[in-house]
Amino acid sequence: MVTSQGAPHILLAFTLVLAAPPLPLAARHSESICLFPERWQGTWFQSGVRLPITILLNRFSTKGRCIASKEDKFLIANENGNCFRCVSIHEVHENVLQYKETFCSPVDSLSLCSQITGDALLYSMFRQNAIALPCPFTGYHTFFYNRGHGECNTLASTMEPCTQDSRLLLRYQACPDVSGSESAVEELQCLATWKEGSSRYLVGKIEHGHVTSNEDRYRCFVYDKIPPSSGSGDGEGNVAYRVAQSGDATCNGLFSPMEGSRTMTLYKASSPSRCKFPSWVSNPGHWHTLDHRRSYSLRHRNSTLRIADSDGREETRVQCSEVKGPLPAIPGSSPSDNMQIVGHYTVGCQSGYVCMVFYKRDQHVIEVQSGTFTRRFEEACNKSNFDRFRAPFVTLVTTSPDLKSCPHSGRFAVTGIHRHVREERSTDNTAITGTRGGNDEEEILSQIQDCPLETVALSSACSERDTMEVRSECDIKRIVSAYRCHAGWIENGTGYVIMTPVGRSGTSGAGAGAGRRYCFIYTSPGGATSLSSPSSQSATGHVVRFSTSADTCSRTVIPGSTGVLAFNITHQGMCVETSGGSALTMQTAGSIVCLSILCLQFGRVFR
Ligand SMILES: *[C@@H]1O[C@H](CO)[C@@H](O)[C@H](O)[C@H]1NC(C)=O
Ligand SMILES: *[C@@H]1O[C@H](CO)[C@@H](O)[C@H](O)[C@H]1NC(C)=O
Ligand SMILES: *[C@@H]1O[C@H](CO)[C@@H](O)[C@H](O)[C@H]1NC(C)=O
Ligand SMILES: *[C@@H]1O[C@H](CO)[C@@H](O)[C@H](O)[C@H]1NC(C)=O
Repeated sequence: MVTSQGAPHILLAFTLVLAAPPLPLAARHSESICLFPERWQGTWFQSGVRLPITILLNRFSTKGRCIASKEDKFLIANENGNCFRCVSIHEVHENVLQYKETFCSPVDSLSLCSQITGDALLYSMFRQNAIALPCPFTGYHTFFYNRGHGECNTLASTMEPCTQDSRLLLRYQACPDVSGSESAVEELQCLATWKEGSSRYLVGKIEHGHVTSNEDRYRCFVYDKIPPSSGSGDGEGNVAYRVAQSGDATCNGLFSPMEGSRTMTLYKASSPSRCKFPSWVSNPGHWHTLDHRRSYSLRHRNSTLRIADSDGREETRVQCSEVKGPLPAIPGSSPSDNMQIVGHYTVGCQSGYVCMVFYKRDQHVIEVQSGTFTRRFEEACNKSNFDRFRAPFVTLVTTSPDLKSCPHSGRFAVTGIHRHVREERSTDNTAITGTRGGNDEEEILSQIQDCPLETVALSSACSERDTMEVRSECDIKRIVSAYRCHAGWIENGTGYVIMTPVGRSGTSGAGAGAGRRYCFIYTSPGGATSLSSPSSQSATGHVVRFSTSADTCSRTVIPGSTGVLAFNITHQGMCVETSGGSALTMQTAGSIVCLSILCLQFGRVFR
């Protein structure tokens, strides 16, 4: 069956055929060019064949050249042109070819094919570097298995899904009284499935500690699905699948799911997800970190949280396993809904339990604390695995959080700025820095870096209640930077507020670094002031210490000292007061270089 003969393909084949030394017998067939289907091209594994088999144009690397074909029959001449075989190749799946063949013969015509008998050995070839496909067994199963010495059913073995649906994890339990049973963990990657008669087949690759070669890796399975028998039982204990596994890297001798090197009986098991995440987590349904490097989405009726990287690849799946309830509030903190949950996590094929606490900061801002991973559900929230005073926080926002009043309304002098280059981000930060503007920012930064602090002023919640501005007049340049404020909260006397830098043109972050947010962390003597009463500490001269954090509202940052950017500001008065006629309102004179010292500092730090 030669189906895909593009014109360039034929040309290539001609060159190939003509370039080969003229073979007396093959010459008669040269008018009927025989090419293997294009989709078979590539390298293949066959058990017992040491080198990978390559199929390309008219070549079948281990057998020779095709000189004639009819439907699925191919007449193949060996390299010397003195031996011919008819090979009948059947594509059972794009990743699996099966064939039967004749012995070597001097007969150079397709009539040879009649010598292929029904009981001829069937060979299977598995595509190397095949793209894996979803496994036929989804969800959680328990199973009993038999390796020919009786069924191991004292303890249930388990089959668990991995984060990719093309992988499964099998945990075999040992049975003391059944020889050949042993506890083992195997990962199965599914590569092909097909149906033949009433049987369903699966080809997969197995990985475990003792696998060293493809002969150990490729296995063939035959299985059938047994629908839950109506009337008997409650549905949970019903047989779901019978599976037989080959003992080698072939599909030979696999005729029924009842016989094989290893047979298994799979039963549907209950999923570890038994609850839903709080409605204030599931209502927006989609969250991301301040730097957009991770997204958190609710799935499966709000019972599963899918954590993916910026390319959308699933990294961790967390299923709600038990809602433990809210934790008591920390003194000196804003009132806030929170919920402690035991989650069942899956990372790749690893799984277990983790204690998590979700905090509602606002409708559009939440935080998550997670403990260490453990295999045992009962221990997930024990002190040894989860300490709420040490577990890091991940701050999550929706794509368009509400604007809120900025804290500390008034005018401030900036009395110190520190910038900390964060080395730990240098290796994995390439994804988001690529969008930042070019070297002109660096250049302007170096021009204004010498600006004396006296020229830098900050105003918060003045021209707009939700805007914080930093401006500097240095030489002839006026530099303005603005931030829009979102939700904020106070925890143990330290304030946190989510900020969005406003772009050069005044549009909110469109273009470069779109949607990027920062967490501003601040304290003032006597504790951070309440956000809702910004004027409660408006005494002139009080100092507010600020730090910024780019990925999360870090609890280890010391405001004014550590963090990406640390700065101290001293209160100078109310917004309405003016100093020397330069009102603290947004001015846009024609050729103002509208870039701020802070923006530039950020640009530098994150480059
Ligand atoms: C998930 O939660 C949201 C918000 O609570 C709700 O509107 C939605 O109906 C829920 N979906 C399901 C399938 O329960
Ligand atoms: C973990 O906590 C549970 C319940 O609080 C307790 O029964 C169990 O003994 C603890 N385990 C360890 C190892 O501390
Ligand atoms: C801010 O003030 C604190 C306390 O006075 C000081 O330790 C810190 O170095 C100051 N930070 C800056 C950036 O000047
Ligand atoms: C609150 O902050 C103080 C110091 O600022 C610290 O010693 C204390 O452990 C914190 N308490 C909590 C509950 O985090």
